[in-house]
Amino acid sequence: MKYKLLLFIFSVGIMAIVVGCQSKEQNQSTEVGQISISEIPLEKPMDAEIKHFDLVAKKETWNIKGTSFEAWTYNGTIPGEEIRVLEGDWVKVNLKNELDEPVTIHWHGMVLPNVMDGVAGITQNAVQPGDTFSYQFNALEPGTYWYHSHQNAFEQIDRGLYGALIVEPKEKSYDKDYVLMLDEWTIGENNRGMMNMMGDGGTPGEMDSQMLYQTFSVNGKSAPNIKPINVNFGETVRLRIINAGYQKHVLYLNDHPYRVAAIDGKDLANATLTSDVLMVAPGERIDLEFTENKKKDWYIDSPNAVKESEDIQIPVNISGIEEKSDASYRDEQNLIMIDMTNQGNMNPIIDNIIQKPDVEYTMDLSAGMGMMQRGMSYTINGETFPDTEPIQVKKGDLVKVTINNNSMLDHPMHLHGHYFQVISKNGLSLVNPLVKDLINIEPHEQYEILFIADNPGDWLFHCHDLLHATGGMVTAVKYNGYYSPFEIGGEYHNEPE
Ligand code: C2O
Ligand code: CU
Repeated sequence: MKYKLLLFIFSVGIMAIVVGCQSKEQNQSTEVGQISISEIPLEKPMDAEIKHFDLVAKKETWNIKGTSFEAWTYNGTIPGEEIRVLEGDWVKVNLKNELDEPVTIHWHGMVLPNVMDGVAGITQNAVQPGDTFSYQFNALEPGTYWYHSHQNAFEQIDRGLYGALIVEPKEKSYDKDYVLMLDEWTIGENNRGMMNMMGDGGTPGEMDSQMLYQTFSVNGKSAPNIKPINVNFGETVRLRIINAGYQKHVLYLNDHPYRVAAIDGKDLANATLTSDVLMVAPGERIDLEFTENKKKDWYIDSPNAVKESEDIQIPVNISGIEEKSDASYRDEQNLIMIDMTNQGNMNPIIDNIIQKPDVEYTMDLSAGMGMMQRGMSYTINGETFPDTEPIQVKKGDLVKVTINNNSMLDHPMHLHGHYFQVISKNGLSLVNPLVKDLINIEPHEQYEILFIADNPGDWLFHCHDLLHATGGMVTAVKYNGYYSPFEIGGEYHNEPE
């Protein structure tokens, strides 16, 4: 078994910065012989360059499709200000909260010490109006990540509290890169409602969240106001696609050949060229690379059955050619959806998958009638968070989780602080296992995943359709010997989802 994500590879000359315990006053009795997650040291490699950022959570008037509304933002834009660093950098982000309600920042996909994970009531207290909080972590692995609030996350991300976090590799395989953050909105008119959506089908497995939204956006804007991708003929472009919404989105490059370069921030080796339609699940990231070979400007669109898909049209403008001629657009009738399991190989994080797991956990996902605060309840083994059974592990365990979707809805399940290896789908082992931090489980599908418990603390494992998370579909990976001094609710109004 090999450990790919070694957080402590620089063991010589390491400077330990111990995080101050922010919340000792409100401890639920310190547990004897247990280590508080606040005492896990943050270790900055001596040679890591420090990169500073300031993010202010604040209200801003935002406009999509001619309608202005009050958005909640990081630094006044949607998405929030991009954080872009180089692999190996030590990232310091100072969060100031100018909103009227508490916020946090979670670094989605980053493997970092638990106390930097940004989950209110689990790894920190929510940052109160007027207060500040400083995050710091080592951006060890290059890739596409994103950040978002993890306090009242269903509402706060929905209103715009998210942005991209890009860790650039030291050696690049591309000339330019562009980030495309996808989202849905309810602005102007009311929700689409049941009646509205009956007409146009929609993506299966998302009946509930489709009723809520009638506008799609790319980088905070809808067509025709989406900023173009500018490319010179012959250049290679990396597209970093991040789904910040609660619905799947499909993208079509209009027959332009591309290859899938990375999934959830991890590179894919020997990927083949394709032009199939891409599907990106809520919370998921997919990087593509294409080399510009068209002689006419083109666009990326979204051949989805729902009407809002027209909002997604991303212009690709080509320069560096004398005369532009027609590009061909393929008939959208016979499009094929890409299958991520046969795009290429990922570096396994676990070599010996026949070793018997130390911990096995079965997760049955279901949607119930029991009413939660915001409507339906969404359950794991019949329970809603915080009453769901945690995955209890000890450091070093090999953990196997079998996820069964017993509902009619999609559940994009996301694990914090670890990557997992997807080893089987519907009972069949995958020839090319995927390494991810989020796996979308469609109705009645079953997946088996493996991960190594190598990052102590309390880590959420939840559905990234946050309508489902706020309705209860959340559990946690908890390490023996460690405890969180934070609590859900309480005087800081900690409310993770
Ligand atoms: Cu985007 Cu709990 O995560
Ligand atoms: Cu779900």
